[in-house]
Amino acid sequence: MFKVIDKIEKPYDENLTLVFQGKVEICPWLSEDNRKLIEKVMEKEEFNGEKNKKVKISFMEHGNLVTLTYVGCGKKEEFSKDDLREVLFKSLNGLKGTVLISSNEKELRDKEIYGEIVYNVNYSFDRYIESKSNKIDVDLFIENLENKDESLEKSLGEMVNFARNLVDEPANVINPETLALRAENLGKECGFEVEIFDEYRVAELGMEAFLAVARASKIRPRMIVMRYMGDKENKNIVGLVGKGLTYDTGGLCLKTADGMLEMKTDMGGAATVIGTMGALAKNKVKKNVVAVVAACENAIGSNAYRPGDIIKTMNGKTIEIINTDAEGRVTLADALTYIIREEKVTEVIDIATLTGGVMVALGTLNTGLFSNNDEMADKFLQASKNVGEKYWRLPLNKEYGELIKSNVADIKNSAGRWASSITASKFLEEFVEGKPWIHLDIAGTAYLNSDGKWLKKGATGVGVRTIFNYVINK
Ligand code: BES
Ligand code: MN
Ligand code: ZN
Repeated sequence: MFKVIDKIEKPYDENLTLVFQGKVEICPWLSEDNRKLIEKVMEKEEFNGEKNKKVKISFMEHGNLVTLTYVGCGKKEEFSKDDLREVLFKSLNGLKGTVLISSNEKELRDKEIYGEIVYNVNYSFDRYIESKSNKIDVDLFIENLENKDESLEKSLGEMVNFARNLVDEPANVINPETLALRAENLGKECGFEVEIFDEYRVAELGMEAFLAVARASKIRPRMIVMRYMGDKENKNIVGLVGKGLTYDTGGLCLKTADGMLEMKTDMGGAATVIGTMGALAKNKVKKNVVAVVAACENAIGSNAYRPGDIIKTMNGKTIEIINTDAEGRVTLADALTYIIREEKVTEVIDIATLTGGVMVALGTLNTGLFSNNDEMADKFLQASKNVGEKYWRLPLNKEYGELIKSNVADIKNSAGRWASSITASKFLEEFVEGKPWIHLDIAGTAYLNSDGKWLKKGATGVGVRTIFNYVINK
């Protein structure tokens, strides 16, 4: 799918050359006649390397048909890594067969970005339809590139796409049981340990909050625990918690039909932590990471938990249920307690499609980031810049904590619409026992309804790349 090469040895179906605006240099190894041809076509098309403009020329060279595309990248001084993503996505999307990409410009040498976009272009969720979309095989030719090993790009691309596929699969395919099996198989393939807890073991641990949310569904919950210890001597363990609602009907506070439609994606956080574990293990990263998913379905039924119920959590705090649709935080409360107390993690990142409120605040571009620890948050934001994902930190003033106080329990699970992504975070903060913690609200970024600048619509796998980068740079 993606290879970095140092010699061009075969003909390709498509040849892309990325050029900046200005005088375009034409491949010196072509025949005199063909170089003239290219020059004339560029002149006629008035092509100067402007951003998102291209010229595509086919001609015969040594008895072979060659198709060459010059892709404009715009002005060198204004060019950003995101521009490279966008230009690559637009020029690769829709191609088929073998593709050679070459560029001599030193600003265009980030092989990570080429790998990212190739895997992105090749991802599609077409298992259930007859017309499959095209896949491309890309060779990247950059002269004198020091590190030509593409295994990191490949494994990240594969694991991001693995996560995307879990999210795109509907809830009649991915349920707590099958999600656990997928994690188990990935663990075998990549080399991390997976332990699955059934509801009886979960009950023994005292995770009554998680079980309350899970109660009405015919498909029983699973807690998925994944361990990757790449540095056994070190006592630091990064904890990852992913929201794993394989479907969210809203429970008795039932969602509308429109609101429910996308709720197969409510295990997006779980998909991200599973994919991240795969990437860490595949790359034999020398760090310790434990991930936990409390997987269940928020269903309706005579057995469902109700508004007004008071529920005890694993750490002893009680929750008044105001709204059964604010279920994610209820499951995460116990997952956080479990990972801190039983797995002894030294810091924790949770990732969850948690609130509609974060979409009101940030739309689909930025993931909401919340943290009780500035140093950890800064490191995470730096990691996100390294890989090109976007996060925006939102505040956690203690005043917001007042809003989740309850008259009948220690806290309540909903404080209404105002600042709802923040009050949801204050709720989670109650369960992190002072450990350095980051909460990522991916409700807006896990799944797109229309194409982004370089992301196809559907699941995005957001978080895999940044969490991976954060862990390796610790
Ligand atoms: N899973 C949803 C949040 C969500 C909304 C994710 C849209 C992706 C797209 C969550 O469980 C939820 O229902 N949140 C509600 C809570 C409210 C009813 C208290 C919300 O934020 O609107
Ligand atoms: Mn909900
Ligand atoms: Zn939910």
